[in-house]
This record gives sequence, structure tokens and C-alpha cells, in this order.
Amino acid sequence: MRLQLGLSAAVVVVSSRGAAKEEFTRHDRRLAARAVPVPDAARALGFSQRSMIWLPSSDPRWKNLRGIVAAHVFAPRSLAAARGVRERKVRDLVGHLRGRAGQVVDVGQAVYGGALNLVSNAFCSADVVDVGAASAQGLRKVVEDLVELIAKPNVSDLFPLLRPLDLQGRRRHAARQMEKVLRVLDGIVYRRLASSASSTDKQQQGQGDFLDTLLELMFTGKITREDVTTILSDVFIAGSDTIAITVEWAMAELLRDPTAMGKVRAEITGALGGKDAVEEPDAAGLPHLRAVMKEAMRLHPVAPILLPHRAAEDGVEIGGYAVPRGSTVIFNAWAIMRDPACWERPDEFRPERFLEEAAEVEFRGKDLEFIPFGSGRRVCPGVPMAERVVPLILASLLHAFEWRHARREAGRAREVHHRQCHGCPSQGRACRRRLVVFFAGCSERVALGQYYSAFMKDCIEPTVHLLLSCIPAEYY
Ligand code: HEM
Repeated sequence: MRLQLGLSAAVVVVSSRGAAKEEFTRHDRRLAARAVPVPDAARALGFSQRSMIWLPSSDPRWKNLRGIVAAHVFAPRSLAAARGVRERKVRDLVGHLRGRAGQVVDVGQAVYGGALNLVSNAFCSADVVDVGAASAQGLRKVVEDLVELIAKPNVSDLFPLLRPLDLQGRRRHAARQMEKVLRVLDGIVYRRLASSASSTDKQQQGQGDFLDTLLELMFTGKITREDVTTILSDVFIAGSDTIAITVEWAMAELLRDPTAMGKVRAEITGALGGKDAVEEPDAAGLPHLRAVMKEAMRLHPVAPILLPHRAAEDGVEIGGYAVPRGSTVIFNAWAIMRDPACWERPDEFRPERFLEEAAEVEFRGKDLEFIPFGSGRRVCPGVPMAERVVPLILASLLHAFEWRHARREAGRAREVHHRQCHGCPSQGRACRRRLVVFFAGCSERVALGQYYSAFMKDCIEPTVHLLLSCIPAEYY
């Protein structure tokens, strides 16, 4: 589909596996730009000229930044070195939830705090929030606002002549939010530099983490001080919310489907035996759990239209539509991953499909009917980390607690209470020790319809709220 929005260049929407295949196999290089022009809000603070997320793939700085994260963060050796940190942070998250057993827990909130600290510790050996605390949600709100501001329709993007006026105030607002993120990260960098400078002991001078590597690159002139903070903000913004939302959706789907929940828990229990804490290799070896992760990402992609690509050259044609230089190319990953031509009963949560007919389908965008991380040269560089962390968090949560859909349970509890009141014996407190009551609120943001809602009819903004309440112990 091709659209003309305002006075901006054409927008081409790719919403089938065939068109995506044509794009990624024949024209990937020519359609992998983002930055000229990028959404106005992304220009705030000049972020778009420095960030790996927004630079065009032809820019040598983009190649340099992707090279740095590929070599120093996501290479197997770097990931193996930080494994202990990730596992520790997930144990912290489980510990936080254990302390709340029997109470209503907002899993999304706790997982978000845990994911933020996991990412910040994996990269700079520092917690940025108290898990579950309001401060974590403050940071989340800032990040969510930023993503939304960048993705929402903006008059300045449609009518570039009006850009200097910033009529909707989006650039100013984005700049304020971006400043908040940068302040937190700058503080971490500043403290590391100060502690390195004041320490005489070589051992104490660094933590041997990604931040140390970045500072080394800075001292040898390969990147600037500004680059250090920008790289950190790229991985924070792109890495924490995405992991948390994916875990939250997988938990929400499992809670709605007790059979699927039972199967995956049985797999985890069988593999772990009496072991208390889950380790990354345990979680990686669980096919059903991996299938649950894939199915949750198929139904609820964190980025339903990926991030907007842009044609860097003329001469591209997709599905008979010319894609002139400067056109925006939107991949409707949400529609592709629910296309009945590719997926049987596409709207159902059926993890088994990834053990049966779609057993060969993997995350990296080779199979173009499944692109939750994108594909081609702009594919998410964080896949190797997400593939480890999401199953680890899920397996840990499912292993440590017995989860109940509290609204459903509350109905049953009323029934049990009625029976108890009429002489049924209470079944004791053992159940309650392992019970964490769950509240999850998930929303698919950045949907196609949100992006240019006035112009596109395929608006997808489902919001799922599973409202659950506490089950008092005396009902058992
Ligand atoms: C479940 C977790 C994740 C999902 C679903 C996800 C998804 C995506 C998607 C859809 C894109 C855009 C691809 C495109 O435009 O074609 C992207 C880009 C990106 N992701 Fe991820 N991501 C996840 C985790 C991470 C993590 C953990 C990191 C880093 C720590 C990360 C860093 C990035 C960066 C830096 C980009 C921009 C790359 C570029 O434009 O060149 N992501 N991700």
C-alpha cells in the first residue's frame, strides 16, 4: 500500500510476507535508512544525529556504533562474561516478589524495574531503580513517553515547512524527556570517571564492564564523551522496555490459558528438579518455554510496525509500487505475524505451533512471516541478549511461584468460601506460601494506526488489562 501523507514524502506500507521478502532480500541496503528526515521528536537534542537507532545505515558512525555493540556487548564471549550479573538481577526480582507473596503484585511494574536494573548492571554495573518502586515507573514513563512521542503523528513530519514552529510542542517535550534519561546515564558515567581518577589501585579503577570498554574507546579517541552516553541511552531505551513488555505478555497469555501454563511449568520443574534458582543454560534448554516466548512475540510484537525505514536511493519497487528516494517504509509486522496465509488460527495463543509446523522458524528475521526483531541490516542487535534474558526471567517467575488469574480465582474463591461456611474443612496455608497474585497491564504501543491514525485504517491498539485481586488465605 502506498500513501501520501501531508507534504512529506510517500509512505509505503509492507504488510505481507511476500512484500517483506522482496524488500529484505532485494532492496535491504537501499531501504535501511532512517534519519533523513526522521520524526521530528527524534531530532530533540540532536539525538538523531548521534544515535544508532536513527542514523542511516550508510553513515560510517552507524556502522561504528553497531560494530561496538556487536563486539563488546552481544558477542558470545561478552554475553558469557555478564551471565552472572544477569542471573543475579533476576534472583533479585524473584526475591522482591517473594517478599510480596499473597499480595496483589503488578508484575509489569516489577519486571520493568528488574529489566532496567538487569540492563544497567550488564552494561555499567549499577542499579538505576528500586525494583517495583515508583522511581522505576518514573523512568519507565519517561522512556514510554519518548517512544510514543517519536512514533505519534506529528504535523512537523507531515509538513516539514512547519517544523521550526514545533506546533504540537512534541520536539520540546521529547527534549525534556530525553534530558531526564541522559541525566541518569551521565551521572553513572561521571561517577565511574571520578572513581577511576581517585583510585590508585588498578583493580579498583574499573569494573570490566561495557562502560569501561566505552571509556577506553573514548580515551583512545575512537568515540567521544557524548557518544558514550548516547550508546548507553540507545541500549537502555531499546533494551529494557522491550524485555519487560515481552515477559509481561507471555505471563498474561499463560494466565489466560491454564493448560499452556501447566505444560510449561511441568517442563521447567522436570528440567530443574530440586534446584532453587534458574540459570541461563537451564532456561535455554527448554523448548516449550522458547515456544511460549515466540508465540507471545508473534501475537504481541513490542514494535508492531518495527521502526520506520526510509528509502536512501531511487529505483526500488515493492509489489508493483514504486518507492522513490526519501519515502518512508513501514513494516506492519503485527499484520504479517497474524496473516492467515502464513499462520493457522493466527489469533490464537498456541505455542505448540513453534514445536510443530513452525519448528524451524527463528528470531533473526530469516523467516519473514516472523519478524518481532525486524530483519536485514536494521535487525535488532539485542537479539542474542533478549533470547537469553526473556526465557531466564520467565522460567524464574514460573519456577518460583504458582500463578493464578486472580479475577477468575476470586470467583472460585467466593464459591469455596460459600462451601467453607457450610462446613467444608479449610485446606490449610501451604498453598498460600507459593501464591503470588498477579496484576498485569499490557499495551501494544506504536501501532500502525497510531503512527498516522488519521490516514490509515488498519488501526491496531489493543489494550489488555487483566485485573486480578488477592485471594485471602482462609478461602483455601
Ligand atoms: C524482547 C526484546 C526486544 C525486541 C522485541 C526488540 C525489537 C526491536 C525492533 C523491532 C527493532 C527495529 C528493527 C527495524 O527497525 O527493522 C529494534 C531495534 C533495536 N534494538 Fe531491539 N528489541 C529487543 C531487545 C533489545 C535489547 C535487549 C537491546 C539492547 C540492549 C536492543 C537494542 C536495539 C537497538 C540499538 C536497535 C536499533 C538498531 C538500528 O536501528 O540499527 N533491543 N529492536
